[in-house]
Amino acid sequence: MRKPLIAGNWKMNKTNREAVALIGELAKVVKDAACDVVVCPVSICLSDVLKAAAGTNIKVGGQNMYHKDSGAYTGEVSPVMLKELGAEYVILGHSERRQYFKETDGDINLKTKAAMAHGLKPIVCVGETLEEREAGTTYKVIEEQLSGSLNELDPSKLELLVIAYEPVWAIGTGKTATSQDANEVIGFIRKKLAEILGAKAAEETRILYGGSVKGSNATELMNMPEIDGALVGGASLDAVEFGSIVNY
Ligand code: 13P
Repeated sequence: MRKPLIAGNWKMNKTNREAVALIGELAKVVKDAACDVVVCPVSICLSDVLKAAAGTNIKVGGQNMYHKDSGAYTGEVSPVMLKELGAEYVILGHSERRQYFKETDGDINLKTKAAMAHGLKPIVCVGETLEEREAGTTYKVIEEQLSGSLNELDPSKLELLVIAYEPVWAIGTGKTATSQDANEVIGFIRKKLAEILGAKAAEETRILYGGSVKGSNATELMNMPEIDGALVGGASLDAVEFGSIVNY
């Protein structure tokens, strides 16, 4: 049975003080959640956010990492550093990383392997752009992203893996994929996972939907059989709104 997971991707929002304050508000509204609750603040806030979240049911993740343990990689953070602080998750290959920072499936593959080697749960993001959807290449694009990012993963660590389907055209636009559309693409992702990672991993891996998820559409999305959770951007910055998603 896959436990639902609702993760907030705070992106480049909230100062340290604001981030800590948001955890205080959030802890009250999500305390009875039936799903796993995760927030992913910017890396310089992780330490204080983890302290603020201690003793609550809120888990914490990074938004990105480099695949090396340490070294001359100015500006990067490593899986060892995330793990030592107490982060449990890390978002990898978000479309904003792919688009603005030119991350490739090969980069995401290295990061995914490194995260899993250190016991972090990677939330690997895939999704098509509007042009790709309109050209009818959604499935082809996603298939390529999956096979490129999930190449040669350690079979003993597959229970750590989480996938997020985030159609780029639905991110921050207020346009949500219909629940049927999202369910269909996620069903396709699960079929591909079976080919790449085996039937057991495909059955057990949680696959989230992301893109303009809010309190008003969370229930419908979460009721779809293939959708195991949500990766939430804008609506995760407000405790009441995020709470209404978590308590869908
Ligand atoms: P929005 O919820 O703001 O559309 O962002 C989705 C997202 O990119 C989460 O990673």
